[in-house]
Amino acid sequence: MYLIYKLIYIIECEYMRLDYPSRHTERIGAVSIHELQKIYELDSGEMPRTSAHNHEQSTRAYSYQELSSIFRELAIVIPLKNEKIGLLEGVLSGIPNECLIIIVSNSERAPVDRFSMEVEMIRQYSQFADKKIMVIHQKDNELAKIFKKVKYTSILDSKSHIRNGKAEGMVIGILLAKMQKKKYIGFIDSDNYFPGAVNEYVKIFAVGFKMATTPYSNVRVSWRSKPKIVNNKLQFPKWGRISEYSNKYLNALISNITGYESEIISTGNAGEHALSMTLAENLNYSSGYSVEPYEFINILEKFGGLLPTDSSNIIEKGIEIFQIESRNPHFHEEKGADHLTGMMQASLLAINNSKICNIELTKEIKNHLLMLQIKQNYKSPKINLQKRHHIMDPIKVISIEDFADLVIKNSKTFLKI
Ligand code: GDP
Ligand code: CO
Repeated sequence: MYLIYKLIYIIECEYMRLDYPSRHTERIGAVSIHELQKIYELDSGEMPRTSAHNHEQSTRAYSYQELSSIFRELAIVIPLKNEKIGLLEGVLSGIPNECLIIIVSNSERAPVDRFSMEVEMIRQYSQFADKKIMVIHQKDNELAKIFKKVKYTSILDSKSHIRNGKAEGMVIGILLAKMQKKKYIGFIDSDNYFPGAVNEYVKIFAVGFKMATTPYSNVRVSWRSKPKIVNNKLQFPKWGRISEYSNKYLNALISNITGYESEIISTGNAGEHALSMTLAENLNYSSGYSVEPYEFINILEKFGGLLPTDSSNIIEKGIEIFQIESRNPHFHEEKGADHLTGMMQASLLAINNSKICNIELTKEIKNHLLMLQIKQNYKSPKINLQKRHHIMDPIKVISIEDFADLVIKNSKTFLKI
């Protein structure tokens, strides 16, 4: 009986259908950046199927089995800081069961212990859903000591505490995923309102890794729309303002390198993105919110053939960047104008400070940053245009066995639920 069920399941499994990645690809050194790929069917039904149209020529469907084989090797890292508890539960519900979930929280411990509330919610949730969830707190003193011990000090501040920042949380998440020998890591923000969108993001990650022809791959989600309420009406603009500009400047950078005008980049600030572990452990990470555009920059710096490199084995295999457009709208918690300005500054500085950024573009970005400052009526501290973002070392320098051993023995907040 079980076998019959299993067989029916295999025949009737769902598929996700999207463009081939090969429509247009920009190559810079060893890096292939694929043009935005569109999803045609979130579920294209059972296969094979006879049809008047031969969709297989222009699109490809991926079966649940294919996606599931990736989910099993995929850890979803959720950076979390003082978000509404209900939002996090929704995000958890959207993640396919096979994935390992790693929550890195930087939520406050006092006067209200929000971290304990999060752990309590996850424990309760786990009574109803059989998920594999790991949790750790970014400000765990023992974790900071462990980083010192394994000589990974670029994540620490001058007082040897782990710095605040989403990127810092991501790095901790990557390390926990490596401890569990996961092959892929995807990042999903904890303030996503729609569990259905979360579910689609994870499927997009899996499809991207399934398409990859190299072990070194990056999958980035582009939102089809970001709904906003303007004058009491719901609107669906495609870009947020930050994405608009970081994409513009990243494309200007690519155009300058190749000599041809390019619009290939549409995911400069994709908060939802994924990396193969082999690529993730080789990258530097830029502190806080500049992490997403810097990922692009760092991949080009390291493998774009523009600067000297010590990664000839990776260059030989090549790096692939996939950009896939989600069908679900992206709807997250609005954090206010100051948050957006800070993020814009961080993103622009990450591009501007790179050695591969040409002089004309530097001038343009600096003017943009000055304009931002004027608009703010000089309320906020002056932007230091020379300021380099704090850059963290690649995590491959850490002995993962030592790290794992110490975390399991010493960390006060590391939990497997
Ligand atoms: P935006 O969506 O890009 O506007 O940025 P958010 O403020 O929503 O942050 C993105 C995600 O990172 C959210 O899930 C936050 O809760 C989380 N986050 C923000 N700061 C930190 C931090 O210092 N540490 C950790 N671990 N997560 C953070
Ligand atoms: Co957000």
